[in-house]
Amino acid sequence: MPANTRLPLLVTALCLLAAGTTACEPSGDHHARPTTSGTTPASGRVNLLAEDWSHLPGGTVEPGGVRIHGLGRQIVLQDGTGGQPHPPVNLRGPQLTVHGDFHIRATLHRPAGQTASLYLYGEVPIVYDEWLQNRQGLRITITEHQLNLTVWDGHSATPATNRTTPVTSPTTITVTLERHDGNLTLTTDDTHMSAPDPGVFDTGTVTFGADADPDAPDWTLNTLEATARNTGSVTVRDTRTPAQQTPPPDSLRALAETTSRRLPIGAAMAAEPLVSDDGYRALATTQFSMLTTENALKPQFVHPGPNTYNFAEGDLLADFAAANHMTMHAHTLVFGEANPRWMQQLDPADRERAMTEHISTVAGHYRGRVAEWDVVNEPLSPEDDGPDGRPGLREHLWQQAMGESYIDKAFTAAHTADPDATLYLNEFGAEADGPRWDALYDLVARLKDRGVPIDGVGFQSHIHEAGDHIDPAVLRSHIADLAELGLSARISEIDVYGESPRVQATQFAGVLSACLSEPTCTSFTTWGITDRYGSTAEHDSYPLEPGDELPWDQRLRPKPAVAALQNTLRAARR
Ligand code: XIL
Repeated sequence: MPANTRLPLLVTALCLLAAGTTACEPSGDHHARPTTSGTTPASGRVNLLAEDWSHLPGGTVEPGGVRIHGLGRQIVLQDGTGGQPHPPVNLRGPQLTVHGDFHIRATLHRPAGQTASLYLYGEVPIVYDEWLQNRQGLRITITEHQLNLTVWDGHSATPATNRTTPVTSPTTITVTLERHDGNLTLTTDDTHMSAPDPGVFDTGTVTFGADADPDAPDWTLNTLEATARNTGSVTVRDTRTPAQQTPPPDSLRALAETTSRRLPIGAAMAAEPLVSDDGYRALATTQFSMLTTENALKPQFVHPGPNTYNFAEGDLLADFAAANHMTMHAHTLVFGEANPRWMQQLDPADRERAMTEHISTVAGHYRGRVAEWDVVNEPLSPEDDGPDGRPGLREHLWQQAMGESYIDKAFTAAHTADPDATLYLNEFGAEADGPRWDALYDLVARLKDRGVPIDGVGFQSHIHEAGDHIDPAVLRSHIADLAELGLSARISEIDVYGESPRVQATQFAGVLSACLSEPTCTSFTTWGITDRYGSTAEHDSYPLEPGDELPWDQRLRPKPAVAALQNTLRAARR
């Protein structure tokens, strides 16, 4: 590994996509690589470790290679059962563009007892906080005695190939994966296995990932090289190629700038599609002036083990937001869901300390980089189960240990960790009049009475059923009621069931106009951008069966909702 690691490729792309940016002037040796088209070296050979590996979750760049420490990240079901592995992907590291035949050779140093896995993705997995779908990709795993090749073809959750063969000297091992004549062949000094290639790299791209058993000594990736064979080619992907995208004047963010409120327009975004999907990234940068971290900062992603934090995806989003002049809204510090299993299993006596440590570490890490936090998410019970026929507090690990005071303690810890951040409590189903709104209002009034440092309330505004509607006038009155308490409000997660494109458009526009009309409504954010990655997708089917709640459809075409939002913004021009 040369001492001089090169400019992070993705940061470069993020910066280029920024409108008139000076936000990320390169500080590294970025002239070391060709600046025009990411040309293939004459030999058709690429040394991937000469690129930037410093953002691999769990990876540490060392003189001899990249040391891999397993994060043990799992996607657990909300009741704490199950658990799908969530291996680290080097989203911000080198990607290859490949054509035809090639081989990729890796040398690994694997201490006894370790399970070393190297991932080569044609398409990066789709990651949500309750499930993950592997698309096209393969995994090479080496254990004490065995070499395993697992291939996913993008048509099924079940691997197309899963083969294992014995190896005799697995401590320092060189493995070569060759794509040739429609086959994938894996070779070491003493083994050889071949499988038909179901088109794993037909996307023309290879993204890398690496994982380890967190309880065993770290392994090291000592070399990683790609070489073209026959008439094939390998190139380090030049993520700088996309032209700079200036928001067009009719984009949501440009139109919102012309309103007297200069209202931030946001969307929940995820790191994986920002890196891998040019169309998604283009919509993100041109349409939105605010970014909410969809899942990346939920506890099970950012804090997978009691002493293990992973900020890679959150940092990517923070840098992306900065490079594209977006305000960052971070979601979420304390929640009854999306908690790693170790948190769910905490002894009640240890929960307060764990919660405040989590908040200080995570909010402290992002201090100065995020403008706002959802400190407490969904504190109310989903049922009207309180003694007065209203929802009580949702019962979960934090509430059970501390009662209502967990909310006070969470806000106080967040304020201490980042005194300049605006702190929100975020809730669903409180847009209409009724017991849920009454319970929320009383809760935040009590918090204000007790001097808790809460700044505002997020109205999630999910509309997930036919016939479900938000009445803009009622929503306005709630925002005004909160203003009387000294609290601001925001539309934090709107998505609208697509019972008909017209009804959907009217719903989006009505909620936006309610926000524009109330001076204390600070922003309007949709929960996602496109149905291609919508959070209501039917994930039991493979591939995903998309939902229809978002303004752009799964082919990234704007629905009538987009024009309705544009018109609403135009009507609110200065
Ligand atoms: C959703 C995510 O978008 C999905 O990826 C995940 O599978 C489920 O959670 N209210 C919230 C968000 O506050 O955190 C939820 O996010 C949507 C409802």
